[in-house]
Amino acid sequence: MVLCAYVTFDDPDGHDDERETVLEAWRHTGIDGRAERWDDPEADWSAYDAVVVRSAWDYLDRRDEFLAWARRVEGVSRLLNPAVVLESNTDKTYLRDLGVPIVPTHWSSRDLPDHEEYVVKPAISAGARDTTRTADRAEAAARAAALEAAGRTPMVQPYLHMVESEGETSLLYFNRRFSHAVRRSPMLAPGMTGADNVRARPRTPAPDQVELAEKVLAAIPQPLLYARVDLVRLPSGDPALIELELTEPYLYLHQAPGSAARFAAALRELL
Ligand SMILES: Nc1ncnc2c1ncn2[C@@H]1O[C@H](COP(=O)(O)OP(=O)(O)O)[C@@H](O)[C@H]1O
Ligand SMILES: [Mg+2]
Repeated sequence: MVLCAYVTFDDPDGHDDERETVLEAWRHTGIDGRAERWDDPEADWSAYDAVVVRSAWDYLDRRDEFLAWARRVEGVSRLLNPAVVLESNTDKTYLRDLGVPIVPTHWSSRDLPDHEEYVVKPAISAGARDTTRTADRAEAAARAAALEAAGRTPMVQPYLHMVESEGETSLLYFNRRFSHAVRRSPMLAPGMTGADNVRARPRTPAPDQVELAEKVLAAIPQPLLYARVDLVRLPSGDPALIELELTEPYLYLHQAPGSAARFAAALRELL
């Protein structure tokens, strides 16, 4: 029996509804899984054959602490995904370096391009936190300037209306093998909140989306137990990357029968 940590956070409201599903799938493949809070000072990470980051959903305000934890764990166990991956993936400036089509992004509050509608968001974020949608160019510039004043890197993008029609497509890969895909609900549409976990439906990705997702993954040399590739379409119709989730993505396991077993099999392969 191998022993693996399922890394979570202090989750009194039970936001992580995938934990039991994963632990059960692990059990079926002979992996003894224990849920551990990443910031639990009592946790003995060296006792684990692998430490798997899952719902570490409170790292945003403590990113330095989280990354220091990741490096420390990597010194005594097998961390998945690896610490260097977590470090680069928690700052969306990684989007500039992948060499794949991304949502057109202006990384400053100055000289904004003209868009019908703007999205302004910080490079370090999750769950659409501190993210603004506005048709007002001056307001977009002010939001970006406020982020800069707070020492943050702003991202200014055109609002892509296709997130409300076709919808964003997320492709899930376990140990680089395609598992499943979902259509996600728009997070910046009226009446939407950041809690998009449940608002997803299974979707068969189009060939051009699969092709781009695999190109994205090919740009990351490290082992990847899990990867979620979030894609949109530009007005030209071409697919583009909006986000690559390699840190603590929700995996939409309940939307795809068999996916938890594929996740467990991928972990076994990497051990
Ligand atoms: N340029 C955009 N056009 C339309 N919707 C956007 C845009 N940028 C972000 N969104 C919406 O906000 C959500 C969160 O943005 P994202 O870039 O994925 O950052 P994060 O998930 O880290 O907060 C997206 O899933 C999408 O619904
Ligand atoms: Mg996202």
